[in-house]
Amino acid sequence: MPACAVAASFSHPVAAVEDLREQPLAVRLLSEDWVLWRDAHGTPHAAPDRCPHRGTRLSLGRVCQGELQCPYHGWRFAADGRCTQVPAVPGFVPPATHGLNTVALTPAHGLLWLRPDGGEPHLPAFPAEADHRLHKLNTVAYDVATSAPRIIENFLDMAHFSFVHEGWLGDAQHTEVPAYDVQVSAQHGVHATGCQAWQPQSNVAASGGAWVAYDYAVPAPGAAVLSKQPQGQQDWRESIALFICPVDEERSRVWFRLAVPPGAAADDELRAFQHTIFTQDQPVLESQQPRRLPLTDTVAREVHSSADRSSAAYRRYLRLISLQFGTC
Ligand code: FES
Ligand code: CO
Repeated sequence: MPACAVAASFSHPVAAVEDLREQPLAVRLLSEDWVLWRDAHGTPHAAPDRCPHRGTRLSLGRVCQGELQCPYHGWRFAADGRCTQVPAVPGFVPPATHGLNTVALTPAHGLLWLRPDGGEPHLPAFPAEADHRLHKLNTVAYDVATSAPRIIENFLDMAHFSFVHEGWLGDAQHTEVPAYDVQVSAQHGVHATGCQAWQPQSNVAASGGAWVAYDYAVPAPGAAVLSKQPQGQQDWRESIALFICPVDEERSRVWFRLAVPPGAAADDELRAFQHTIFTQDQPVLESQQPRRLPLTDTVAREVHSSADRSSAAYRRYLRLISLQFGTC
């Protein structure tokens, strides 16, 4: 399967559920423009953001009785993509060729997921979602000027805590990354277990430094999940998912979904903590060159240390499934 077809066979998050209201919404995924809208039942749909008549952006139009209406000549499209009306020719029954290729949008984890090839939803696993003892919330979306894989690697990387997040997730006296185990397969992605980090302020509810046990999973090329458990803070366990929309090969839109014990902190405090951490990462991420991971022999390879086993495994996973977030 070509690399772009691999990317198109996964579901990708394109918007927060609450961002899609009564008017169409434009999103960009894998270098393609899409329009999202809700039909008369509130069910979300997506189609290429280009009118089959004269190429106008449909997202500039509006939704009328659940149908998408082009802003230029008012052609209307039903949820299944059928063109239902050509206002300039009222008696005309538009043939199938005048319609849109719609795809379903799947709501999950507070986001709307789009699978570009129109196949069955192919969503990343986030086990904490089903844990009713944990409260879930999403951060705002972050637009980041780099590729999705760079952001996944940063999320898996424990060696940067003492430098990028000093005083929060890391400390100058504890720079060493103790050994950990990593497994990788094309089917299940990456799983790193037995990770440990000494953290001055590992979460919003922590009252001091602690060793924190980490577990990381990469269930899909653009998704990663961490679970952390600080020693001595037995009432706190949290799981954080990173969900990325690969806008194109060098730009991404990022959401974090937090699953935490209820009542431990207000949602705004939890979001503010995550915002502090990610805005420490963002300038470093956007400085990395090249923005795409150097996975092939035609570009200079990067060198690794033994602390980089997770990111090395992630690169192996991308090679195993032959994935690039390129243009089809
Ligand atoms: Fe869309 Fe003419 S361009 S109706
Ligand atoms: Co970081």
